[in-house]
Amino acid sequence: MKMIKNMVMLAALAMAAPLAAETTAAANAAPATVTEIASGVCAGCHSADGNSVIPMNPILAGQQAEYITKQLMDFKATESAPAKRNSPVMSSMVAALSPEDMKQLGAYYAKQKATPSQVAVEDQKLVETGKHIYYGGNIANGVPACASCHGPKGSGIPPRYPAIAGQHAEYTLAQLQLFSAGDRANDKDVMQQVITRMNGYEKRAVSAYISTIR
Ligand code: HEC
Ligand code: HEC
Repeated sequence: MKMIKNMVMLAALAMAAPLAAETTAAANAAPATVTEIASGVCAGCHSADGNSVIPMNPILAGQQAEYITKQLMDFKATESAPAKRNSPVMSSMVAALSPEDMKQLGAYYAKQKATPSQVAVEDQKLVETGKHIYYGGNIANGVPACASCHGPKGSGIPPRYPAIAGQHAEYTLAQLQLFSAGDRANDKDVMQQVITRMNGYEKRAVSAYISTIR
């Protein structure tokens, strides 16, 4: 019995060639398993390829692998510490995931082709205002340009600054509200300082603009 198990493990190791040097846990989490998790567990809300069509659920496709892995870890409470990022939905989703699963899920979504938000924004003035804030910030109330950390095309700067281009406006706005209320602080309060002086209109505007970046 033990011998058969060893042989199966060897086969798994051989298939997962780049991970061969890693631990048994890595060998068990063969790529097929991650695809199974993504299509079996996550797809209902984020779609199988991570291109969520539900505006309150983030698009994950094309996001940086490190950022996705970090968020999954932050959603998970440990025995000694509460979750760094609060989300009742996501904390139950990550409860059964191992660190290796999280790493591989990050890699899985990072290599999917992103389809930007298809939700139409009617208010062009809102989008224009958002564009100004994105590239120039607001000197009057000390809001820095989003482009300085998230890049001129919103594709982010790995590994710390996530891609935000084409994300659903509803999700982005929800995150901005969580950051400013201090309810999301898993980035050492960087984003809270960025948007603390932004008013509601500016938050809606920049979220709308971000959803239109292609
Ligand atoms: C029932 C719906 C649902 C399911 C199923 C679900 N998610 Fe989520 N996910 C959400 C919601 C809602 C959020 C936004 C949470 C928030 O507001 O902070 C989210 C956020 C995330 C984020 C953060 C993205 C970002 O841009 O910061 C990641 C990563 C993620 N989910 C991955 C997964 C993975 C991997 C699975 C499967 C194991 C999964 N989700 C299953 C609803 C879901
Ligand atoms: C000083 C650098 C910096 C600036 C400037 C900045 N951000 Fe961020 N932002 C970050 C970091 C760091 C994170 C990642 C947080 C984490 O690791 O969880 C982030 C995360 C985000 C997220 C969450 C993404 C997701 O998928 O959940 C949104 C939305 C966002 N920023 C929007 C903005 C907007 C809008 C602006 C301009 C008003 C802006 N940021 C300016 C550093 C910055």
